[in-house]
Amino acid sequence: MKKNKISKNWIIKQRRDIYVRQSKLEGYRARAVYKLQEIDQKFKIFKNGMYIIDLGAAPGSWSQYVSKNIKSGKFASIDIIDFEKIDNIHQIKGDFTNDIFKKKIINYFGTKVDVVISDMAVNTTGNKNLDSIYTGELCMDAMKFSKETLKNDGKFISKIFMGSTFNEIISEAKKIFKESKVFKPLASRKNSKESFIICKYLR
Ligand SMILES: C[S@@+](CC[C@H](N)C(=O)[O-])C[C@H]1O[C@@H](n2cnc3c(N)ncnc32)[C@H](O)[C@@H]1O
Repeated sequence: MKKNKISKNWIIKQRRDIYVRQSKLEGYRARAVYKLQEIDQKFKIFKNGMYIIDLGAAPGSWSQYVSKNIKSGKFASIDIIDFEKIDNIHQIKGDFTNDIFKKKIINYFGTKVDVVISDMAVNTTGNKNLDSIYTGELCMDAMKFSKETLKNDGKFISKIFMGSTFNEIISEAKKIFKESKVFKPLASRKNSKESFIICKYLR
C-alpha cells in the first residue's frame, strides 16, 4: 500500500475510534489514557499520596491521568521528546536507557517510589519482530530500574509486545515480583501485538 493511502486510512480510523473522540472531549492528549484507566480500575494501582514515575510519557495522557486523579503525590515523567507542561509533574527530557537520566529521576524523589509505569515504545521500523524486540528491551530495562527504585509493596506496569521477548520478560518479572499478570485492555487495538504486564510486591 502506498504511504499516502496508509496515512489516509489512519486518519479515517482515528475519526471513527471512540477512544480518540472521548480523549478529545475529556482533554486528554492521547487515547492511550484509557488503557491506563482500565488497568487502574481492574488492578487498583493508584492511591492519593503516591510517588509515581512515568517512563516514555509523551505526549502525556498517562501523566495527565496521574496529575488529575492522584492527590498530594509526587510525580516525574521522562521522554526523549519534548511534551507540553502538565500540572504537578516534574518533566525530564532524555533517554531513559542512559544512566544519567535514571539518576536524575532517582535524585528527584530522594526516596523509594510507589509505582513505575512505562508505555515506552520505539519508533516503528516497519519490521514487527524488530519492533517487539526493541520495545521488549525497554521493558526489561524499566523492570530492572523498578527493582532498584520501588518500595517493597511497589507496583510496575509496562507495555509489552507479544513476540520473541515475551517469555524472557515474564520469567524476569516472576523473579523480581511476587505477583505478575498480563492484561490487554479493551482500549488497546485488537490488531496490535501490544499488551501490558502488571507486577506487584518485590520479592
Ligand atoms: C506510546 S508513546 C507513550 C504515550 C504516553 N503513555 C501517553 O499516554 O501519552 C511511547 C513513548 O516512548 C518514548 N520513548 C521511547 N524510547 C524511549 C527512551 N529510551 N527513553 C524515554 N522515552 C522513550 C517515545 O518517545 C514515545 O513518546
